[in-house]
Amino acid sequence: MNAVLVKKRILVGVTGGIAAYKAAELVSLLCASGATVTVVLTEAACQFIRPLTFKALSGNEVYTGLFEGHDPLPHITAAKENDLLVVYPATANFIGHTAAGLATDLLTTTVLGFKGPVVISPSMNSRMFDNAAVQQNLARLQEYGYVIIPPESGRLACGEVGQGRLPSPGAVLEVIRGALVPKDLKGLKFLVTAGPTREPLDPVRYVSNRSSGKMGYALARAARDRGAQVVLINGPTSLDKPPGVSCVGVRTALEMRDAALEYFEAADVVIMCAAVSDYRAKFPSPNKVKKGSEEIVLEFIKNPDILEELGRLKRHQLLVGFAAEDDNILEHARRKLEAKNLDMVVANLIAQEGAGFEADTNIVKVLFRDGRFLELPRMDKYEVAQRLMDMVLDMRRV
Ligand code: CTP
Repeated sequence: MNAVLVKKRILVGVTGGIAAYKAAELVSLLCASGATVTVVLTEAACQFIRPLTFKALSGNEVYTGLFEGHDPLPHITAAKENDLLVVYPATANFIGHTAAGLATDLLTTTVLGFKGPVVISPSMNSRMFDNAAVQQNLARLQEYGYVIIPPESGRLACGEVGQGRLPSPGAVLEVIRGALVPKDLKGLKFLVTAGPTREPLDPVRYVSNRSSGKMGYALARAARDRGAQVVLINGPTSLDKPPGVSCVGVRTALEMRDAALEYFEAADVVIMCAAVSDYRAKFPSPNKVKKGSEEIVLEFIKNPDILEELGRLKRHQLLVGFAAEDDNILEHARRKLEAKNLDMVVANLIAQEGAGFEADTNIVKVLFRDGRFLELPRMDKYEVAQRLMDMVLDMRRV
């Protein structure tokens, strides 16, 4: 379940494009996230996918026309009863009608009366997408406050390659979630670090750790969704860059330190989530080390503790650290909070099932300067991030 989406009422509009089949997956994901979903199909969409598919997936009536069914005002009911409207996929025809304020069918009429967030995900052939009229219509919709998800580049239905592909249902779910959360961090600048660092031994080998970067990325996305300006300093990960976040890629602890110092002064909130390697090779070889003797001994030297340094420089910033522990979690976390001059430390037991490195969920204890601590149950890392944003906001209000 996804706390942001639980009990939210989402209206999904599907227009007539070849990618309409992907809407079935979006409806399924939304329902699995706890939302109540109602679907409106345009006449053209019904040529590509049957209303029955959506009825079965959502468990709700599917609407296709202004003058069908018992409700004489289905567009007003739909506009009043839902928290968010997403149009997935949105054709050039729908975009043109909506940009012109035309109400020619149930979906375009509903959009006109919709007061909540409207998310539009265009998909079409790249030649159509590049057309000046389509571009102008999209710019106008953006001006009106609609959230436009740019189509992706890649192989299109006709075999050509270009921009026009419908983004995945998972990516759209993320945008929907972002559109529903309050923008209560607007005006704040966040600096977040994520992922591991890699300390080279030679040009092909390195020492690193199992951090996936998932928790730090979730923090960056949560802060962005709530309106903050976010710089994410990321060590090497396999994750996609979160749209709307300024990403600064680094490899080693020394590079991460330089980047952190560069953005620290301007930041209001700094969350050091990266798993920084404590040591680096003292003499990394400029050439690939050849196989030779039966044993080799490597010498390591200590990396700077970035967070400790930020703690010394801290003035107006709220400083949050993480603590990965395998025992005596509270004791170690408290020691780190004090030694590094932190306002808050987020600690987890790395060996615990459903927590720590690589997992999609986390179980954390949060300690504050005044001695308070609280424990969050196991939840999705994005949900943990949202709860941490609540705490950051509370601390800034004090
Ligand atoms: N950290 C850092 N620079 C380092 C090491 C850690 O900025 N060289 C930060 C981490 O990003 C985290 C916090 O310090 O926010 C605690 O990191 P952790 O690895 O749990 O602890 P350490 O301080 O490295 O201590 P130990 O390894 O002994 O547990």
